[in-house]
Order: sequence, then C-alpha cells, then structure tokens
Amino acid sequence: MDILREFLNAFWLRPEVALIKTHEYLALQEFEFTEPSLDLGCGDGIFSFISAGGRFGSDFDMYQNVALTEQFFQGADVFDHFDPNQFKADIRKYPEKKITYGLDHKASLLEKAKGLKLYEETIVADGNKAIPLPDQSLNTIFCNIIYVLDTDVLFPEFQRILRRDGKVILQLPESSSEQSMVYHLYKEHGWEWARLIDRNKYATTFTGEHEYNREYWDKKIERANFRITKQVDLRPDLVHKMWDIGLRPLFPALMEMYKRLAGEDRREVKKVWVDTLYEVLLHFCEPEWMYEGMDSKPAYRMVALESS
Ligand SMILES: C[S@@+](CC[C@H](N)C(=O)[O-])C[C@H]1O[C@@H](n2cnc3c(N)ncnc32)[C@H](O)[C@@H]1O
Repeated sequence: MDILREFLNAFWLRPEVALIKTHEYLALQEFEFTEPSLDLGCGDGIFSFISAGGRFGSDFDMYQNVALTEQFFQGADVFDHFDPNQFKADIRKYPEKKITYGLDHKASLLEKAKGLKLYEETIVADGNKAIPLPDQSLNTIFCNIIYVLDTDVLFPEFQRILRRDGKVILQLPESSSEQSMVYHLYKEHGWEWARLIDRNKYATTFTGEHEYNREYWDKKIERANFRITKQVDLRPDLVHKMWDIGLRPLFPALMEMYKRLAGEDRREVKKVWVDTLYEVLLHFCEPEWMYEGMDSKPAYRMVALESS
C-alpha cells in the first residue's frame, strides 16, 4: 500500500489525516475524472495531487508553512499562512493529467497549491456564492466539503456550469459521521477533555446548516435535478473515530519539535516515524476487511451525480 506511505510522508505529524486521506483516495479511484474539471474547496491541493498520481519527495510535507500555533486551541487555522521563502515543493513525479481549476476561499492555501503545478488555474472565491466560471464549461466537479457549504446556492450553480453529460463527485456524510464524534461527550456531560480533543473540529465540520444522513442528502440531490449514478462506501467508522481523536491535541508540541529539528536530523526522525506508523496503520487501510470483519459502518460515501 504505497499510497498510505505517500500520505504519511505529507501528513506525518497527523497520521489520522494520512489514514482518512488514504481511504478517500481508495474510494476516488472508482470514479472517472475528465477535464475540464473543478476541485471545489481544494485547499493546498496535496490530496488531489496525490490522487491524480503525483508523488512527493521525502522532504515535502504540509508543515512548512504553519503559523499561529499558540492560538491552536482557540480554533485558529494554523495552515492559513504562506511565506514563499518557507515553501519547497519537493516533487518526485508530477501527475500525468492536470485539473483545470482549483477553487478555495483561502488565498494562502492556493499559493501552496500553485507550487504543485496541479491546477491550470486557481480561483480565490467563496464556494457559497456564484462560481466564477461560464455556463456549461465543465465535465467534472469534485467537492469533498459539500456538507459545510450552502447547497441551495451550489447545486443550481453545478447545473449551470456543468456540460450536459458532466458529473459531480461529492463526499457525503452518513449519520454516524456526526453521531460518533467525541464532542458529544462534551455536549452531554461537559467533559473538558472531550472539548480539548475536539479542538473546534466538530463546529467546523458539522455547521448546523445540514442534516447528516442518507435520506436528507438523497432528497436534496433529487430536488436539485440530479441523480446518483454511482456510490462507494467511504471511511469505516473505526477509522472515523481514530481521525476524530488522533494526535490533534499534540499539534502545537509537535510543531515545536518540527521547527527545532532541521536538515538531516528531521529527515532521520521523519523516516523512523513514517516507517513505524506505516506498519501500524496499514491494517486500517482495507475497507472491505473493516466493513465485514469488524462490522464497521461507513461514515461517508462518495457519489457521482449526473443531471436527471
Ligand atoms: C478540510 S479542507 C479540504 C481541502 C482539500 N479538499 C483536501 O481534501 O485536502 C476544507 C477546505 O475547504 C475550504 N473552504 C471552506 N469553506 C469554503 C468556502 N465557503 N468557499 C471555498 N472554500 C472553502 C477551506 O479553505 C479548506 O481548504
């Protein structure tokens, strides 16, 4: 499973992110991606770069440009920072195909994405407003954050910008994605440790604008004149729980370690770190085994939509 190693290389300080991204990668392989295409909410582009077949060198990771770690527990987005002097795109292999547009509302993340040369064009825009692209201009729209966006605005926009036989690929939550979050223990009992582990993640993932179950999303899709043409289970709930806890509370401490280690020292530590995590996490990268052998339920699904 080389792909787990790829994600661990990029997200080594946060192995739980490498794990959910490996699962997302596996699900996405089942879907066709044809240009012109849009990656909506693409962020720094690392996930889509690896998914498109790009490969990083061992000096690359997502921690090169991080700020405000002292405000981490107040909810600051520590990755919303770009300094070109601190950014080195150590790339082993570029993807064979480019994605036409990468859109995000955070300019700093798009600056990082530009360094990967994955997107033909990056667009700084709010995904809750009209998409600044012409009518019927796209074959594929990919969005793995639809459940934090305003679908009353976006679904009609998808209909407008898609070509007649174009596809939308979305990651949609199942009810267990919300129900199994550790934040519920804080909500129900006021347990402070649960709030610290959550660190504002619940509020940014489950915005309250939507419900988080299959029926709700199926109805929304139908009302927007789309039909589901393919769907793949994504993220066994055990993996979802691992992501929910993970090493998140340690992040400021890990960043201190990261900054103080440089050059060969950092390389050596990273190698031991990635090799160790690889052995442990490999066993959590077989969705079939987890669904059947461990009776895990999917926390999300990946779907393809076409106009009905
Ligand atoms: C969890 S990250 C996912 C990034 C990327 N798709 C990936 O898989 O790594 C969520 C991304 O959505 C972006 N985002 C959140 N709300 C947005 C909005 N209203 N308009 C555009 N982008 C938004 C954030 O800036 C961030 O880059």
